[in-house]
Amino acid sequence: MADPAIKGLQVYVVGGAVRDALLGLPPGDRDWVVVGASPQAMVARGFIPVGGDFPVFLHPHTKEEYALARTERKSGRGYRGFTFYTGSDVTLEDDLRRRDLTVNAIAQAPDGELIDPLNGQADVHAGVLRHVGKAFVEDPVRLLRLGRFAAQFPTFEVADETLTLARKLVTQGEVDALVPERVWQELAKGLMASAPGRMLDVLEQTGALPRVLPGLVVAADTAEELACAVRNDLPLAGRFALLCRHTQPIKPLCERLRVPKACCDYAVLLPQLLHDIARLEGVSPMLLTGQDAQHILDALMQADALRRPDRFLDLLRVAECVRPVAVSAWSAYLGVVQEVDAGAVARTVSEPKAIRRALYQARLQALVDVYSGG
Ligand code: CTP
Repeated sequence: MADPAIKGLQVYVVGGAVRDALLGLPPGDRDWVVVGASPQAMVARGFIPVGGDFPVFLHPHTKEEYALARTERKSGRGYRGFTFYTGSDVTLEDDLRRRDLTVNAIAQAPDGELIDPLNGQADVHAGVLRHVGKAFVEDPVRLLRLGRFAAQFPTFEVADETLTLARKLVTQGEVDALVPERVWQELAKGLMASAPGRMLDVLEQTGALPRVLPGLVVAADTAEELACAVRNDLPLAGRFALLCRHTQPIKPLCERLRVPKACCDYAVLLPQLLHDIARLEGVSPMLLTGQDAQHILDALMQADALRRPDRFLDLLRVAECVRPVAVSAWSAYLGVVQEVDAGAVARTVSEPKAIRRALYQARLQALVDVYSGG
């Protein structure tokens, strides 16, 4: 059925939706470009203007994004340093030419016809991430996106000329203008992609790594551990923790990137948990000495496992990507410690200050009782 809001309007789906459809991937959000219209005409049709850097409107019913075709010119440092021109003389091809990668610069008309002046389809089929034009170097976010797409499409290669241009973003200092939110946004997408290690490769090959993630230590095994996280379907927090597990201290990087607290907490807790697990190496999980039990209890307390049991179990799964972990034994230890009736222990002590100590002893005793073999 004809959609009255776009009747007579020249509109095309562009970007990721067209690319993903060509790759046979499930449909995500659709972005539309509108050619030959003014902001006033869009509002008159019932489109809702979205406040922002350039004229984007929400469709009155589908709420999909419609952007006026535009050209861009660099006017300052960083990705905010742009001026836009959205006159009704801007053509679809003009708009496609200002985009980042050829695979993202294919448009599709409502009747299904593909408009592809930059041969994006050929690059989709050949598996190449190639920049559209020299303007690639005007937007440092594109360097992050390049890495993220490499992670998202593991069979795709980055064109040599594109890598060379991406290096310029680093040597010319543009990457230093990236705001933390954008770095985190793209890093998080890259970590959740099917080959996160490839994003690190792109950042490393372009020299961007120390500039966008200062202090991060990437080790030889990081990519493989992240691949394990993908196989085990670990959440973002676990993947971030694996990425950062050789980085000390971790908090400055978290603060700089404004990493969500849950992710940062995982990153702080993982190295300690790995250390605690290593300390018990060679111990038979069902037969513990008093000292083993103490190490286990300390590890549980350190990870705040009693208050956050689900997070603790999750962290064990993350740790498994680094070294063998007796997950069921650890979860049983937690169960034993949880069984201790804290209220009852507290009532046996007269001094409030002594409660912590008594509780610790009771929990330790519970572990010893179950696992000492006596
Ligand atoms: N784009 C660009 N340069 C950027 C950001 C976006 O050229 N720095 C263009 C690309 O054509 C891109 C489109 O805007 O395809 C839409 O951007 P976005 O929705 O952020 O990403 P997608 O490519 O659609 O990918 P995905 O939705 O999978 O993240």
